[in-house]
Amino acid sequence: MKKIALVTGGTRGIGGGIARRLKEAGYLVAANYHKDATGAEKFHAETAIPVFPWDVSNYESCARGIKDVCEMLGGSIDILVNNAGITKDCMLHKMEPESWQQVLDTNLTSIFNMCRLVIGPMREKKFGRIVNMSSINGVKGQIGQSNYSAAKAGVIGFTKALALESASKGITVNAIAPGYISTDMTDAIREDVREKIVAGIPLGRFGKIDEIAQAVLYLVNEEASYVTGITLNINGGQYL
Ligand code: CAA
Repeated sequence: MKKIALVTGGTRGIGGGIARRLKEAGYLVAANYHKDATGAEKFHAETAIPVFPWDVSNYESCARGIKDVCEMLGGSIDILVNNAGITKDCMLHKMEPESWQQVLDTNLTSIFNMCRLVIGPMREKKFGRIVNMSSINGVKGQIGQSNYSAAKAGVIGFTKALALESASKGITVNAIAPGYISTDMTDAIREDVREKIVAGIPLGRFGKIDEIAQAVLYLVNEEASYVTGITLNINGGQYL
């Protein structure tokens, strides 16, 4: 039977690339999105991957969304890719409490929400693959990203703890820490800041979406059963 894979933030950017690759690899894929219904419908028209709107920062919303996915695809989630995330970059001395809270809720509490809701059935089945998207900036910090760096560092700690809890149940839990990948999110970086960032990347360029998607394919594979609790750095050779 085909395994069911769910990708949050899965209709564009890195998540869209991951969902496409998972489908090509033969998984039954569902893609979550939040607000961009037009973009999601376009993605669905191109890929035939079913798309589901919900807010990953809200537990009840996640519960409803996961129920819809399971009903439509006819089973529980085997593979969860927690990819959805936002930035609200600002120096701390100018940051509003809302920008802190929204980034923590969307990038970290979302991981609790989603994992909490899929982990029970995975434990019963004695199989599961969870991949959580962290970031290079969760590992090393970044100017203007105290909120984002804190959340993405939290993702790494969460991943390690859940990997330990799940090791005896056939469930692997890993994080990926992408460097700067060409997407709408990195397109928004100011030109002068972008130049400084590229200058610090040994490969001399931003990464490509597929350079992350291929790593996800490996981590969710049944044969990757001895890899758990890791954070895979994919960042063009930056030393951390
Ligand atoms: N490297 C070195 N110095 C940097 C820097 C960088 N990447 N970014 C900013 N600075 C310096 C500035 O030159 C400035 O120095 P001085 O005070 O000596 O002049 C100081 O830090 C303050 O920065 P700004 O003057 O730019 O402050 P601002 O309030 O105008 O702008 C900001 C704040 C918009 C957040 C801006 O600092 C910025 O864009 N920072 C980078 C944010 C970033 O990398 N975001 C990544 C988004 S993509 C993503 O997050 C995906 C992922 O996982 C990688």
